[in-house]
Order: sequence, then structure tokens, then C-alpha cells
Amino acid sequence: MSYAVVWFKRDLRLHDHAALVDAAAHRPMLCLYVIEPSLWAPPDAARQHDEFFGGAVMSEVAMRLPNLLHQYAKQLAAQDSASASQPHASTLNLASFPEGFRALVIGASGGIGQAFVQVLQTHPRCGTVVGLHRHSEPRLDLDDEASIASAADALRGGENGEIGGSGKFHLIIHAAGVLHTADFSPEKKMGDLSYAQLEATFRVNTFGPALVLRHFCPLLEPQRGVLAVLSAKVGSIEDNRLGGWYSYRASKAALNMMLKTAAIEVKRSNPHAVLVSLHPGTVNTGLSKPFKGEQIGRAAPDAVADMLGVLNRLAAADSGGFFAYSGQRLPW
Ligand SMILES: NC(=O)c1ccc[n+]([C@@H]2O[C@H](COP(=O)([O-])OP(=O)(O)OC[C@H]3O[C@@H](n4cnc5c(N)ncnc54)[C@H](OP(=O)(O)O)[C@@H]3O)[C@@H](O)[C@H]2O)c1
Repeated sequence: MSYAVVWFKRDLRLHDHAALVDAAAHRPMLCLYVIEPSLWAPPDAARQHDEFFGGAVMSEVAMRLPNLLHQYAKQLAAQDSASASQPHASTLNLASFPEGFRALVIGASGGIGQAFVQVLQTHPRCGTVVGLHRHSEPRLDLDDEASIASAADALRGGENGEIGGSGKFHLIIHAAGVLHTADFSPEKKMGDLSYAQLEATFRVNTFGPALVLRHFCPLLEPQRGVLAVLSAKVGSIEDNRLGGWYSYRASKAALNMMLKTAAIEVKRSNPHAVLVSLHPGTVNTGLSKPFKGEQIGRAAPDAVADMLGVLNRLAAADSGGFFAYSGQRLPW
């Protein structure tokens, strides 16, 4: 009699969704769960994904349903035990931030951004967490300068109880970035360089964040305000031993320069402010997945706990620095 559509994947394809709902409506006994393929059938996820969205194979989906739900239950149990082993937010020391502090996460839809929001939301010291991304309200698209300015305006202008509250934040994390898209992968050699990839990467990793610095630095609380941009160790010029990944490396190196330059300027008007570039380590997210992130990366909440620990310890004298999740200072 009923059906439910549960969707875990962020790139919801509306036309598929509509087709599934329509199919389910014509099968009233079918309780339909749409689950990200990797959750229920990892070995041949791609094939089943195609079948799943074929529409014509709905009866096959119905036959498989008990098995799918069983797999899903197992997956949930595994997630529960994984999260139980993760550092609990209440044990994370964020004492350098005031009671009820306000945090903002830009790129809150990404693997690391989402984890920042979740960890901060459950931390007893954190009073407010605002997450911005391309589909939030207000929206923030790094490829759209006006959206960056108007998102900052919206937060600045809010009254108590609205999204902006006092309009100032004790902690601002910029957690957006791009390494690969449907159109490109990181370059392996000079022969792979193209203007299109260089420009697209720099727009998201460097130019957009530079405008985020412009519009969001004024939103830092004057007494205790920390702003971190997620950079990457591969953006270190001194540490570059392997080569390759031209656009990504260069965009992060340039981001580091933007951050350092902004830190010098902000210090003049806000001497307590702390602006840093932060390397999260290899984290298991969509960004790292094609490069064995799943096997070699850490879970995002673990990386976030480490990074928040580092940010908690930073003082004004550290502003303009490039730090790893371990707290180690990285070479430029
Ligand atoms: N994962 C790692 O191992 C690793 C290692 C070193 C550094 N980092 C850095 O950490 C940061 C977060 O990475 P992640 O692993 O969380 O990647 P992710 O899961 O792929 O998330 C990327 C985030 O960037 C956002 N984004 C991409 N293009 C955008 C645009 N034009 N406007 C606004 N937002 C945009 C995405 O938004 P949508 O959801 O709308 O696509 C998403 O929120 C990145 O800067 C990355 O370079 C990651």
C-alpha cells in the first residue's frame, strides 16, 4: 500500500526519481527503497544500477527487494559500529572557542564539509552551525561571484533567530574544492594540460575561495575568529616530489598565497584573527575515491576531529600558516 524512496546519493537525478515513484505507485504492494548502489551490491553495482534505472525491470527489483533490504540493514549496522568507534564530539576539546560559539561551513555538501557540520552540531560547546553549498539557502557557488557576495550579505544581515544571528562567526571553514569532474581527471603529464581544466580548477580552488576570503573575513568575530581553507599538501611547492596533477597542485599553491596575503591584511584590522590553510590528509570522500581514497583514506569524521583539534590550538601568531591535520607546519 505504501512506498518510500530513500536516497543517499547527492546527485539526485530527478527524471529517474520520478520514473521510480511512478512505477512504485502502480505496484501498491511494493515497498520500494532506492538505495545508492554501492550500499547494496558493491561487486556489480554498475550493472544493477543500470537495471535499476531501466524502469522496465521494476519487477526484478521487487523480487530482489528482501535481499536488498537485508544488505541495507547490514550496511546500517556496519555504519553504526564504525561511528561508535569514532571520536565522540563531546570528547573533542574546543575550549578556545566561547560557550555557544557560532560556526560556518562552506562546501557543506562535500564529504569533509558534511562531517564538519555533523561533528560541530553534536559538540556541546557549539551553539550554531550554518552550512553553505551550491544548493543551500542562501546558495554559494564558487563559480558565481555574485552568489558568494550575496551569501555573505545574507548571513551578515540576519537578526537573532534567523540564519545570520549576530552575523559574526567564531569559526569559518572553507571545505569546498575540486580535483576531478566528469570532464577531466588530474593531469599525469604536461601533454594533458588544457586551458579548460586549468581554468575550471582554478575557479573552484583558488578564485572562488579568494572571493570567499574577501566577503567572509569581515564576518569573523573580533575576539576569537578562526578561518581555515582546506588546501592540500600536494599544493606545497617544496614538497612536490612526484610531479603530475598540475592544475590541482598549482591551484592549491595559489590558494595558499591568497590565504597568506589575506592573513597579513586582516591582521591590521582584526589582530586576533587566525587565517590558515589546512591539509586534511587523505580522506575517504568522492574527491579521493578514484585514487584509492577508500582504501588509503581515513573516515571524514576522524579527519575533522583532528583538524578541529588543530584549529582549537591555533593563536593569532599562527595566522597565515599552512598546517596539516596533525598540527605539523607544512612547507610552502
Ligand atoms: N579528500 C581528500 O583526501 C582531500 C585531501 C586533501 C585535500 N582535500 C581538500 O578538502 C576539500 C574538501 O574535499 P572533499 O574530499 O570533501 O571533496 P568532495 O566530497 O568532493 O566535496 C567537494 C565539495 O566542493 C564543492 N564544490 C565543488 N565545486 C563547487 C562550486 N563550483 N561551488 C561551490 N562548491 C563547490 C562540492 O559541492 P557539490 O556537492 O555541489 O558538488 C562539495 O561540497 C577540498 O578543497 C579538497 O581539495 C581533500
